[in-house]
Amino acid sequence: MKVFVTGGAGFIGSNFVYHLLGLPAAYSVVNYDALTYAGNLLNLERVASQQNYSFVRGNICDAAAVCAAMQGCDAVVHFAAESHVDRSIYEPAPIIETNVRGTLVLLQAARELKISRFVHVSTDEVYGDIPHGLASDENYPLQPNSPYSASKAASDMLVRSFVRTYGFPGIITRASNNYGPYQFPEKFIPLMIANALDNKPLPIYGDGLQERDWLHVEDHCRALALVLERGREGEVYNVGAGNTEPNLSMVRRILRVLGKPESLMTRVADRPGHDRRYALESSKITRELGWSPGMDLEQGIRQTINWYRSNGAWLQHVREGDYREYYDKYYTHRDKTMKTVTA
Ligand code: NAD
Ligand code: TYD
Repeated sequence: MKVFVTGGAGFIGSNFVYHLLGLPAAYSVVNYDALTYAGNLLNLERVASQQNYSFVRGNICDAAAVCAAMQGCDAVVHFAAESHVDRSIYEPAPIIETNVRGTLVLLQAARELKISRFVHVSTDEVYGDIPHGLASDENYPLQPNSPYSASKAASDMLVRSFVRTYGFPGIITRASNNYGPYQFPEKFIPLMIANALDNKPLPIYGDGLQERDWLHVEDHCRALALVLERGREGEVYNVGAGNTEPNLSMVRRILRVLGKPESLMTRVADRPGHDRRYALESSKITRELGWSPGMDLEQGIRQTINWYRSNGAWLQHVREGDYREYYDKYYTHRDKTMKTVTA
């Protein structure tokens, strides 16, 4: 099966390309990626010269380029997105352009080319804040609270509309917060690891008691491959590991493994509109496709820390390499707006 992967040079996309090409089934991949600050071909060095892998640099909003590159593919797995909540708060327009209009362009191309399966990779953030004692299943109302989650909810609704209106073979997955190798160090876990390794302050938003349901990226990739193979068209599948943990506990875990002092933790002003809690109910994918998470949280964090420790050159490259301008612009804004609350 020839799979058109969008955003395959990003964090989850690159892990997925490795996962798919490592399976016994005969898959080949066309990786279509614009290489924004978050996309990096270094992530794919181990498959770059394989015959069953090819790379096309392009924007998902460019309909002609998408159609040309998708020609001859059997299925689409759609990761490409602007994926960071803080950036979406800072500058919403590019997020809507890529995540909403880009998804529409892909749906139209896939329909025109009679693609047999379209897996849309979405997020549990579309469900919004989940009260204590509850977990969101696939029928939970969509109540997104950030421009990022609103854009993902909008793209989910576009996929849904194509399924209903055109009999389109779309499937939506909604995973919880991922962590693991190749994650850009703007996101919580890699930022905390990278700063702790450099003995820099670890910025904790607000009281640090917000909870996220942590999923190792390899578990997510296994789920996506199952959905690609056997998921039911028109369905939504939640993917969560049931590891709901407050941010402060997660940072303490990281500092403990690294043997660094808790005095590195620095409370900063809270993120506007910050969701307090995500928690996913994922029994549907277990029941229908036999998926269950394999990675224990402590083991996964240790493995991730080891990866960042052993890949200092990668970290240096993504933090200070070609992306310096974007990175500086964003962090200058962030540092101005986030004043330390207590040391
Ligand atoms: P990422 O930011 O690491 O990677 C995004 C990739 O998309 C990059 O390679 C980038 O170059 C590419 N891209 C961005 N805009 C593009 C455009 N206009 N055209 C073509 N390529 C473009 O993101 P990620 O964390 O790997 O997330 C991948 C997908 O999974 C996203 O759709 C995200 O919403 C979803 N998701 C992420 C998480 C998470 O915890 N990271 C959890 C659930 C779902
Ligand atoms: P993030 O990785 O941005 O994922 P999301 O907002 O999509 O869940 O953030 C995870 C949690 O960590 C979230 O509650 C915000 C918090 N956070 C911090 O406290 N400090 C930081 O510097 C970052 C980036 C996030």
